[in-house]
Parts: sequence; C-alpha cells; structure tokens
Amino acid sequence: MAAKSPKLSLACTILILSHKLSFASASCFTSIISFGDSIADTGNAPYLSPESGRPPFYTLPPYGETFFNHPTGRCSDGRLIIDFIAEEFELPFVAPFLQGGRNGNVNSTSFRDGANFAVVGATALEDSFFDERGVTVPLANVSLVAQLRWFNQFLSKICPTTSSADCKGFIETSLVLVGEIGGNDYNHALLGGIKEAEVRSFVPHVVNIIGSAITELINLGAVTLMVPGNFPIGCSSAYLTYFLSENQDDYEPATGCIKWLNRFAQYHNDLLKKELARIRELHPHTTIIYADYYNAVMDLYRSPIEHGFAGGALGACCGGGGPYNCNLTVHCGYPPSNTCDDPSLYVNWDGMHFTEAAYKWIALGLLKGPYTTPPLSTVCPALISSSHGRLYHPM
Ligand SMILES: *[C@@H]1O[C@H](CO)[C@@H](O)[C@H](O)[C@H]1NC(C)=O
Ligand SMILES: *[C@@H]1O[C@H](CO)[C@@H](O)[C@H](O)[C@H]1NC(C)=O
Ligand SMILES: *[C@@H]1O[C@H](CO)[C@@H](O)[C@H](O)[C@H]1NC(C)=O
Repeated sequence: MAAKSPKLSLACTILILSHKLSFASASCFTSIISFGDSIADTGNAPYLSPESGRPPFYTLPPYGETFFNHPTGRCSDGRLIIDFIAEEFELPFVAPFLQGGRNGNVNSTSFRDGANFAVVGATALEDSFFDERGVTVPLANVSLVAQLRWFNQFLSKICPTTSSADCKGFIETSLVLVGEIGGNDYNHALLGGIKEAEVRSFVPHVVNIIGSAITELINLGAVTLMVPGNFPIGCSSAYLTYFLSENQDDYEPATGCIKWLNRFAQYHNDLLKKELARIRELHPHTTIIYADYYNAVMDLYRSPIEHGFAGGALGACCGGGGPYNCNLTVHCGYPPSNTCDDPSLYVNWDGMHFTEAAYKWIALGLLKGPYTTPPLSTVCPALISSSHGRLYHPM
C-alpha cells in the first residue's frame, strides 16, 4: 500500500470539515421566551396548585413516562413542541419561571437561556371576563395578561433598567413564543356547557388580547415572535366524548372529527392571522411567524397509520374508557384510568393533550415542514441543514 498522500488527507480534512459545517446546529437564537398554556408549560403549574386536596393529574404517573421517566408538570408522556424547538436550537429545555418563586426570585444568570411563563389551564383573557359569564377557570390569575405582568417583573429583576443594552439584547436575540393561547378560553366554556354561539362571541376578544400582548412584547424589544393557532379541537378525544352525536353528518367522513368544532378553531385561526398581518404592517422590522398547529396535526388525523400511529388518532392512550378512551370524570393519572402500552403509537395522550410522538411530528412540521408563515427556514437558514430531528416526510 502506498503511503497516504498528504494532498489526499488534506482533501479529506476539508471534506470532513465541510460535512460538519453543512450539518451545523441551528443556533439562531440565544434563548426562548414562552407564554401559553398546557401545550407549552414545562413545569410552572405545580408551583401554583394548592397544597391540600388531590394532586393535579400532571404531577402523577404516567405523565412524563416516555422521556423524563417521571412527571415534570408537562401535560404529555414526554417532551412538548417547545422542548423539540429548544433541542433544535441547541438550547436547554426552557425553564419554568415559577421555579424561582411566584414573586420572581430570579437573577441575571438563572434564566439566561430563556424563561417559560406558560401555565396549564391558562386563558388569554383575564379571569374577570369568565366570572362575568359564569365560566369556571381552574387556576386564578394565570392569563396571558398575568403572564406578561410576570415577564415585566422578571425584566425588572434581570436588568438594571429596562432600557439597558443587556436587557434589550436578551429579548432581541430570543425566539418569543406567544401561545398556543386562547384554546382554554373556549375549552372551559364549551366543555362547561356554554352554547357555541356565545363562545364564538369570545373569539374577537381573545384575538385582540393576543394582539395586545404581541405589541407589548415588540415595545419591550422582541424582534422574532412565533404565534401558534388553535388545534382542530373537533378531533380531540375530550371533545369527541363530550359532544358524542348520533348524527353521522356531524362528523367529517375522512377523519371522524366533529365538523362544527373544527370550523370553530378555524374561525379563531382566521381572525388571528388577520391580526398578525395588521401588526406586521405596523412593525416592519419584526418577524411575526404564524405557526399552523391546525394543519400540522391534521396530517395525522387524515392518515394516522401511514404516519406510524397504529393506535389511531382519535382515541386517547391514557383515560377512563368509552369509545375514545376518555371519561371526563376519570382523568389520566387517577384510577380507574388505563394507559396504553406504547404511547408512540397514539396521537392523543390524555383526552386533551398530545403524545410526545405527535408533538414531535408537529414540531418537525414547523421546523422542517411547511407549517410556519413566513417559513422558519427563511428566518433561520441553518435549520435546513441542521442534523437534529428526523427528516420530515410530508404525506
Ligand atoms: C442566580 O440563580 C442561580 C439559579 O437559580 C443560582 O444558582 C445563583 O447562585 C444565583 N446567583 C446569584 C448571584 O444570586
Ligand atoms: C388575582 O388577582 C387579583 C387582582 O390583582 C387579586 O385581587 C386576587 O386576589 C388574585 N387572586 C388570587 C387567587 O391570587
Ligand atoms: C365514567 O366513569 C365513571 C366512573 O368509573 C362511570 O360511572 C361512568 O359511567 C363513566 N362514564 C361513561 C360515559 O362511560
């Protein structure tokens, strides 16, 4: 064998280097700041639950069994969309703000990589809106408006003055997730017996408050914001159970989802997209990304088996039995609920929330697929070549 040619080994080095470069991580943001509800809560809610009484379901097994091997406060068997986004950007999982205490015991290093203000059950609108309409909300003062108050408190702790360069830099280089939020404004009402027509009248209020939050965040220095819409709620095991109907016309033949509930979610999403367009015009230096959760997960409802969800899309992995393995009085985590052997074969985790496998699919649809507008890959070109996550195969 001839000795290795130095030329060849140099060529090899360059090849390896460029191979490494083309698979570089997508570190477009220095941190993630998040607002929302159970879809994004990485552990705030347990700090707010009363010490007496039944522990909240999300603090009990089998929550967290898939990835963390113990409950973390997340409403899933494993990671959430926000966790997959953090992984993609090579950031740690976004720390729950309340781990520093409700009064914001934080300093400039404790949340350097980001802070999560999302809380299980949170609404966009303030509690008073629901009190006036006889709708019960499970936790007090955790609305989007309240979360923004926490954020301002947080900024006043981590920055000497809110206009200081450090503080501005922190927000400017963060990916700011506003939502999903608003889903609970409708869930608490619709699953609490309020008629559709009345709940529809909430939608402009909800969208308006999301718009105000975005504007406030931009005024605080946010430049890149991602705002998700609502899911197709007519496909959720909890809604399918509560609104079980004898009339086949109520169901979409291709998916088995309830038509009017999906139209409701689309109505919210249409108004939200209009609001985002309005704010983009007013703040052309910002990038406001709409995250299309509705269509990202709709792929799974249309063809669950082809996407590897052999357990189907409509029935919950964990729940209290019935046609969708969901019983609104027997929650996952409490007896006599049952849990499937392999959550990765299911789309729905506990009636209301998704499995880690479904969240991963949705996250891929945002990071690598077509479900962000403008596409995340134009905001962060490194995403196209980053090695994280599996390849996205739309079907
Ligand atoms: C800041 O917070 C972190 C994490 O909570 C803690 O470990 C650290 O000691 C704190 N630093 C100061 C200066 O208080
Ligand atoms: C919620 O906030 C309102 C207004 O700040 C306050 O009066 C009320 O005591 C709070 N409720 C709880 C349970 O913290
Ligand atoms: C829900 O579970 C309770 C308690 O096990 C049971 O009594 C009830 O019949 C169940 N409801 C439905 C709709 O299956």
